[in-house]
Amino acid sequence: MSLNEDFLLELRERADIVSVVSPYVNLKRSSKTYVGLCPFHSEKTPSFNVYPENNSFYCFGCGAGGSVITFVCRIENLDYIDAVKSLARKFGLNMPEDGYDDTLSRRRGRILSANREAARFYHSELLGERGRAALDYLLNRGLTMQTIRRFGLGYAPNGWTPLLDHLSQSGYTEAELIEANLVRKSEKNGKTSYFDNFRHRVMVPIIDIRGGVIAFGGRVLDDSKPKYINTSDTLVYKKSRELFALNYAKNSLEDGRLILAEGYMDVIALHQAGFTNSVAGLGTALTSEQAQLLARYAKEIILSYDSDEAGQKAVRRAIPILSGAGLKVKVLKLSGGKDPDEIIKNHGRERFKSLIDGAANDIEYKMLAEREKFDVGTDDGKLSFLKAAVNVLASADGAIEREIYASRLADEFSVNKSSILLQVDEARKRLDRQKKRDRLNSLNKTARSMGIPPDIPSAVSVNAAKSEMTLLSILLNNPDFFIKISGSVSAEDFSDELHGRLFKVLMERAASNKSIELDLLNAYFTPNEMSRIVRLNNDGARQAASLGICFDCIKIIKEEKMGVEKVNPAELSDEDFNNLFKSFNK
Ligand code: UTP
Ligand code: MN
Repeated sequence: MSLNEDFLLELRERADIVSVVSPYVNLKRSSKTYVGLCPFHSEKTPSFNVYPENNSFYCFGCGAGGSVITFVCRIENLDYIDAVKSLARKFGLNMPEDGYDDTLSRRRGRILSANREAARFYHSELLGERGRAALDYLLNRGLTMQTIRRFGLGYAPNGWTPLLDHLSQSGYTEAELIEANLVRKSEKNGKTSYFDNFRHRVMVPIIDIRGGVIAFGGRVLDDSKPKYINTSDTLVYKKSRELFALNYAKNSLEDGRLILAEGYMDVIALHQAGFTNSVAGLGTALTSEQAQLLARYAKEIILSYDSDEAGQKAVRRAIPILSGAGLKVKVLKLSGGKDPDEIIKNHGRERFKSLIDGAANDIEYKMLAEREKFDVGTDDGKLSFLKAAVNVLASADGAIEREIYASRLADEFSVNKSSILLQVDEARKRLDRQKKRDRLNSLNKTARSMGIPPDIPSAVSVNAAKSEMTLLSILLNNPDFFIKISGSVSAEDFSDELHGRLFKVLMERAASNKSIELDLLNAYFTPNEMSRIVRLNNDGARQAASLGICFDCIKIIKEEKMGVEKVNPAELSDEDFNNLFKSFNK
């Protein structure tokens, strides 16, 4: 796909990366760059760098990097064209009408507008003649008209094609509606027919933080199965990345807290009862992407899952995922009903409020959960519980927190507090070692994503990869060198696939006197690839550059290609590997 390049250059001039990044990251100036906590992975010390001089960013922790456009792609989950559009809008530029392929973007737009039209249709059906039973169902569950309107709830009529008929009249094709997952296709006896995905169901529209209707959940009116039918993933919807009601909740955070419940109906009931900082997942187990999304808005999550076995299992799974995203976690112990919806209905909002106030923090919760596993009335049970409790305490970061709980345990079980703390220390050391191993693994993963040799499928030379990186980083910063090295090395000589491809693009652009600005390269490479390219570019900006070095690199690249020296990356020890990484990370 190609966008008008003058336009891109102008966009780059205007779209100052610091002002684009600032709403997401608290940036601090440090000489020529800005640093902050990376929005793409969770960290406690800042390794996310923004470089105003060439409008780029790079995170030394996770390897994410790129141009201002890449940043928008990643943070807003947009594809390239949509990111450019959004930046153009923000900085007051008109997109050129011609010269870009926006098929994907247009298809996405069609899905969003079909969804919006469908939501309107469902809502008016709910209030019309055919929606009587559905409306009664919702009112009987205690929802007010105001809540029904606020959430845009609706009713999908009981027939094969009411929505299809309606949207066809508005000009949507069957193919578009299938792509939106609003309509399905069946082939029987060589005959093709189309029918509505949602039939005779109460409809809950799912709206993203930009206000687009991205999907629906449809609930039956009785006890039949399946209880819900949900929109499957489409071009505008990836359920592992979205949260229900975040569009409302993000504006009403209380002390940086969000309540995370299991079900649509829980969230709707919670909002109606005034807990407007509530969200829910979308029918899948909580993902780390969702946790990152929560962490963009909240500091603390109050887990409010159902009290049944499945709900509690989900709590245990969710805690480490949420903590991993840097969130504090509290867990509600629901009593007086199986889920928030029931508790509020049976006992009122005050009851739920008091549950929130009494919510256990994650340490307390884990302790309680361990305690339930053992019979602490017996010596054996007591010992097993204490062992488990020591491991729970080891996971607490605060020394004071560990003291407090150790004291409680010591008092309750008449054991020595200092011996508990001693064991906690031992356990912490074990955890530390584990963390180091994990860290090394993730370091290796980062290195691999940067194209450091172990990523290269066949056994190729470390030296070649290093020389390629040096050569490319010099070339990126010295476009006038291209003509001078032209003919002495070709893309096929490169051992790393991306390096070769990058060289080819650069060479071709330089040969026809086109600029090799980073923003223009976006069109050829994926965001991940751009991360590596930006890194090369920025390394090069800092290092000595001479034609001599270029020719040295070329010599090594060619020698290595001849097979002078081969290293099997699989044979690198962890330490070698780590050193290798360091040498690139100087
Ligand atoms: P629940 O069964 O707790 O649903 O499932 P609920 O929303 O509280 O509905 P009520 O109160 O029984 O009417 C929790 C969530 O799991 C997903 C939905 O997202 C639901 O909100 N789910 C559940 C499905 O996707 N499909 C199902 O068949 C059931
Ligand atoms: Mn429920």
